[in-house]
Amino acid sequence: DGFPAVQLFGQGVSYTYDDVILLPGYIDFPADAVDLSTRLSRRRPLAIPCVASPMDTVSEAAMSVAMAALGGAAIVHCNNAPDSQVAIVRAAKARRIPFATDPIFLSPSDSVSDFGPAAYAIVTESGTSKSRVVGVVAKSDWDGLANRNTLVSEYMRHAPVSAPASYDFEKVASFLAGGGLEYAPLVAEDGEVVDLVTKEDVERIKGFPRLGVPSLGADGRFVVGAAIGTRETDKERLEHLVKAGTNVVVVDSSQGNSIYQIEMIKYAKSMYPELDVIGGNVVTVAQAQNLIKVGADGLRVGMGSGSICTTQEVCAVGRGQATAVYKVSSFAKEHDVPVIADGGISNSGHIVKALTLGASTVMMGSFLAGSSEAPGVYEYLNGHRVKKYRGMGSLEAMTKGSDARYLGDTLKLKVAQGVVGAVADKGSILKFIPYTMQAVKQGFQDLGASSLQSAHDLLHSEVLRLEVRTGAAQVEGGVHGLVSFEKKFF
Ligand code: XMP
Repeated sequence: DGFPAVQLFGQGVSYTYDDVILLPGYIDFPADAVDLSTRLSRRRPLAIPCVASPMDTVSEAAMSVAMAALGGAAIVHCNNAPDSQVAIVRAAKARRIPFATDPIFLSPSDSVSDFGPAAYAIVTESGTSKSRVVGVVAKSDWDGLANRNTLVSEYMRHAPVSAPASYDFEKVASFLAGGGLEYAPLVAEDGEVVDLVTKEDVERIKGFPRLGVPSLGADGRFVVGAAIGTRETDKERLEHLVKAGTNVVVVDSSQGNSIYQIEMIKYAKSMYPELDVIGGNVVTVAQAQNLIKVGADGLRVGMGSGSICTTQEVCAVGRGQATAVYKVSSFAKEHDVPVIADGGISNSGHIVKALTLGASTVMMGSFLAGSSEAPGVYEYLNGHRVKKYRGMGSLEAMTKGSDARYLGDTLKLKVAQGVVGAVADKGSILKFIPYTMQAVKQGFQDLGASSLQSAHDLLHSEVLRLEVRTGAAQVEGGVHGLVSFEKKFF
């Protein structure tokens, strides 16, 4: 009944996730017994198979700490100067709690200045993060102030008790509760003030589904990944990233099978043998072979499948994502190299398909964009609260430097391979990723797979059967026949 993957994907047709459907197997365990633990790369275990994409509207410090707290990982983008990227990695590494804000610092001799939507500003001796905390200004105090020339020192609340930034969430929560505190600055070992945690933050996070095992490095800090390019200057970037404690690097190219990437992987592997280096992107076995040959510890798979990608239309190259994931993972498995299924994930079913077809993790852009952890501010568009999400190959992003990813930085004429858009406010990933993982577990249960390993065993032993869905079957598989449902309730 149905077809084994080797037959279905061997017909010369490029299939994407929606084209295929997995046939159910036999259930002899509860959904909660499904183990989604996996590996990001050869030596980097993760509790959940989720990775945030190295894009400047997805992965910075807040996304990195939240993903690591959940048991996944984020790859900090490199569409910035090396020192800015390193500052993001350091900011994420300085925290052990699942959120990061951009704290506002004032000095006692500042006069009132608007500090945006933040509820509190931290007052330090010099007005920077690198000096001693002397007080806190609450927005509510400042809002009621008639004379805006008043000095901060006259209305700040005095020296709050600080908590060590190395405290994890439970410790921070009991620190606040034990001291009856409304808030506390978090201070790193070297005296740098990294954030301010409030009672509301703690309550909000406690209300989310329980967090899994966090991703921690050998340094006891959150695992943080970072992207690099393939230029000579990226060698220096890499050096600073490694010094900042980056746990894994991704060499970020839209077509990874190039002499530039191969040289960069060789260089990174020889300079930093302890560091896992992920190569990509690839969609064919031949591409994968070249990167594995030079020591890639993981492969990022996908070309043109991303929600903001136009590569397949502009350059006529790429591959349907289901076919690409199956073909590359089947090959990479023989070399014990984990595969990241990158792009095209828009629901939990796509995650189940990607993992079942051989991937070890999924990398997501649009699925995580629009969350409170994504960089940028919310705006209103046609009555919807949205955040910007843009392709790294869009003209807008390329003017900031990401054209290196498309080997276009030395060209006079720039051709876009991506678009700029916006995605709806999704709330915190701390809330929706646990729900998504629960849905993935239920998918695995339906297949009769109690872990990623067992799903891969079903795939390769040809017990797992699939079929191609017709257009009508795809319509039938989605919500249909409810004309006014959306309008009425959303
Ligand atoms: P999703 O579907 O998760 O895809 O939004 C994210 C992935 O898309 C890739 N990416 C691009 N591909 N043009 C492209 O062809 C672009 O401008 C672009 N920006 C990102 C990337 O692999 C990312 O992880």
